[in-house]
Amino acid sequence: MSVIKKPTFNSDQISVIFVLGGPGAGKGTQCTKLVDNYQFVHLSAGDLLRAEQARDGSEVGALIKHYIMEGLIVPQEITIGLLKSAIAENFEKYNKTKFLIDGFPRKMDQAITFEEEIVPSKFTLFFDCSEEVMLKRLLERGKTSGRSDDNIDSIKKRFKTFEETSMPVVEYFESQNKVVKVNCEKSVDEVYADVKKAIAERIQNK
Ligand code: C5P
Ligand code: MG
Repeated sequence: MSVIKKPTFNSDQISVIFVLGGPGAGKGTQCTKLVDNYQFVHLSAGDLLRAEQARDGSEVGALIKHYIMEGLIVPQEITIGLLKSAIAENFEKYNKTKFLIDGFPRKMDQAITFEEEIVPSKFTLFFDCSEEVMLKRLLERGKTSGRSDDNIDSIKKRFKTFEETSMPVVEYFESQNKVVKVNCEKSVDEVYADVKKAIAERIQNK
């Protein structure tokens, strides 16, 4: 007997836009600007994982710490569980329906599971950026971010994971015509102008 999985939400209830790009591409920065202009809830998978890692009594804190430092993708059950709770809380308590999910899905299994079990995404906003520019940004951020992975060893591992594990997700959505690509090597405001232009039409229609 086959098991038919039913998503927790349907596409009329909530809409989800995935935001992808290499480490240091500017996903978080651009999401913050989008939240100011549109009524999105911004959920960063990395931020949710760091909060869980720091939570007293977390059973997976040590595991998350290891994966983040090594630039590896945390097992999907953990990340999807955190995202699902955050979406449900925003929807049930605050009637929020529009979500920007930043830094997710970073691996094919996450993409498939999320769309099957939570809700299909509307599209993916992909920030295209060279490693050279990302490296410069991350090293600069590392001076003040306090992040355990903003150091040259972890950054190199994160770049490798991005190329090998996360780019296939972008290609998968591209094959479905569900990627809006923006180059983000320019200044924050210039990139944002391009982001607004690129997504305006798609957002209006959703
Ligand atoms: O997006 P951000 O750079 O904050 O992610 C930091 C780290 O969190 C990643 O390098 C990875 O170890 C972990 N992560 C993950 N799965 C995601 C998002 C982040 O394992 N979907
Ligand atoms: Mg981020």
